[in-house]
Amino acid sequence: MDELGLNKLFAGILVAGLLLMTGVKLAEVLVPHSELEQNAYVIEVPEGDAAGAAAAPAAKGPEPIMALLASADAVAGEKLAKKCTACHVFDKGGANKVGPGLWNVVNADKGVVDGFGYSNALIEFGGQWDYAALNAFLAKPKAYISGTKMNFAGLKKPQDRANMIAYLRQQADSPAALPTAEQIAAESGS
Ligand code: HEC
Repeated sequence: MDELGLNKLFAGILVAGLLLMTGVKLAEVLVPHSELEQNAYVIEVPEGDAAGAAAAPAAKGPEPIMALLASADAVAGEKLAKKCTACHVFDKGGANKVGPGLWNVVNADKGVVDGFGYSNALIEFGGQWDYAALNAFLAKPKAYISGTKMNFAGLKKPQDRANMIAYLRQQADSPAALPTAEQIAAESGS
């Protein structure tokens, strides 16, 4: 009886210990979960861009891109556009797919492509797709327009966004003017 009681006691302690360890392990697995989500997006961009990627940007807005636009690589942008073509056509007169046709989108009013059913969030947001708006939207669509139905994580690297926007700019009969020195200075907050 005595020995059995002791055994039960030890068994109890053992089980309690195991439960505790399981709990700790479980917490370790669960807690960093929110961070994982962010990292998952970074995987899309394997090459290490020391300058851009290393310096964790302040949570505020996306890094400026206007200064990069003049020398941005529209051909690289066209390659990046493969990330978009599941949902968008870039050609003139291109049909709407999951997303609206993107011909002539730079400096266009938001949400005006004929026959496309935009989210209320985007329509109510309003304004134009100027370079700053495109930069913010393409960096993280849902952070810029909360409630947009564009399900795309975003282009994290400023150079990628600049290249993408350089390509978008070319998809027009008369491409929008590149940013002026004043606009570049205003964007970088200097
Ligand atoms: C999974 C589908 C999907 C992908 C991928 C996607 N988009 Fe979109 N995009 C949409 C949808 C849907 C909308 C409409 C959003 C709304 O109404 O809220 C949209 C809207 C836009 C708009 C606003 C157009 C307008 O007429 O106001 C731009 C600009 C845009 N997308 C650019 C891009 C670019 C550039 C890429 C690739 C880097 C991309 N999108 C990737 C689905 C997508």
